[in-house]
Amino acid sequence: MPPITEIEDLRRIYKRRVPRMFYDYCESGSWTEQTFRENSSDFDLLRLRQRVAVDMAGRSTATRMIGQDVAMPVALAPVGLTGMQHADGEILAARAAEAFGVPFTLSTMSICSIEDVAEHTTEPFWFQVYTLKDDDFMRRLFERARDAGCSAIVITVDLQIMGQRHKDIRNGLSAPPKLTAKSLADMATRVGWGLEMLRTKRRSFGNIVGHAKGVSDPSSLASWTAEAFDPSLTWDRIGKLMEMWGGKVILKGILDADDARMAVKVGADAIVVSNHGGRQLDGAISSIRALPEIMDAVGGEIEVHLDGGIRSGQDVLKAVALGAKGTYIGRAFVYGLGARGQRGVTEALEVIHKELDTSMALCGRKRIEDVDRDILLVDDDFH
Ligand code: FNR
Repeated sequence: MPPITEIEDLRRIYKRRVPRMFYDYCESGSWTEQTFRENSSDFDLLRLRQRVAVDMAGRSTATRMIGQDVAMPVALAPVGLTGMQHADGEILAARAAEAFGVPFTLSTMSICSIEDVAEHTTEPFWFQVYTLKDDDFMRRLFERARDAGCSAIVITVDLQIMGQRHKDIRNGLSAPPKLTAKSLADMATRVGWGLEMLRTKRRSFGNIVGHAKGVSDPSSLASWTAEAFDPSLTWDRIGKLMEMWGGKVILKGILDADDARMAVKVGADAIVVSNHGGRQLDGAISSIRALPEIMDAVGGEIEVHLDGGIRSGQDVLKAVALGAKGTYIGRAFVYGLGARGQRGVTEALEVIHKELDTSMALCGRKRIEDVDRDILLVDDDFH
């Protein structure tokens, strides 16, 4: 096995191991993919200020997110179909996160159910909900999350209407894959993936199958979301759903200062500055570029998190320097999972942790709470 030195190493192995349909599902953005690309490239417009001769013994990346102790300000983002990237993917990712001491967020669109993950973990995890039309279904989902001991829900507010990813249409994305000549030919080259799938209990969209009304084809992601998701979502309904849950709430998918103010008004515990990893509004501003304005608007009133484009600990450090109390990785952990299962997710977390710890120290900061905008040199193009 080659040594894993950076997240890109995991992506390369992942690309060889997992069926092309699921690789493309992960490694793409909507339409021209401008926002997907800029989520990562905009981090390059921020440079780090090196400091020397500062005592760095006894430093730590530990901090808190929504009052919870975390080993570093990084959580695993909710990612749909994770159980197709590796058999039992959600369970393995949750176990890796738990062992590392960072939060795991289970997607509504997961393959393993809330109960599957709860059964195989001991720490509370976070549950992400999409806002579906059916209130009874939402109530049942919340009950299940409560029974499973979830400590917070993440309400995703930027996907009431779905952006288009060309590759998913061309590949006929479905879970499990439909058996066509093309998909069979591709899967024949992914023997390791297939054997794991065969060895593992068959699971399918554990949170939604059998519950959502009016779903004609639950194996087709696009048709299911088009039918079940609520295009008439308003702040009023978000507030009602928060009441229905009654516990901690993180609102995910905020990119605008006015929306951030609304999130404060409805009483969220935190927001995630996010454009859904460049999978929704193509042409939208990158998350890292959106962060300063949102911090200026609400930074004093609510905990602000960020996701989108994070591929290194340096990226995490830059987001924290601009005020984020926490960050999330989506693709970076999926690369690890698809490449090597639970061990790969652990490796992704280790890589990011090492980069964060080293870079923080080289900037002369001993604790996450000491990281501030002074460690950044901001390129003119960033504004
Ligand atoms: C996502 N994302 C996502 N978000 C969400 O709230 N629910 C979901 O089910 C999914 N599903 C999903 C699938 C895949 C394959 C990806 C890549 C992303 C968005 C995710 O939570 C997060 O916002 C982004 O992944 C962050 O960007 P990076 O870290 O992937 O660049």
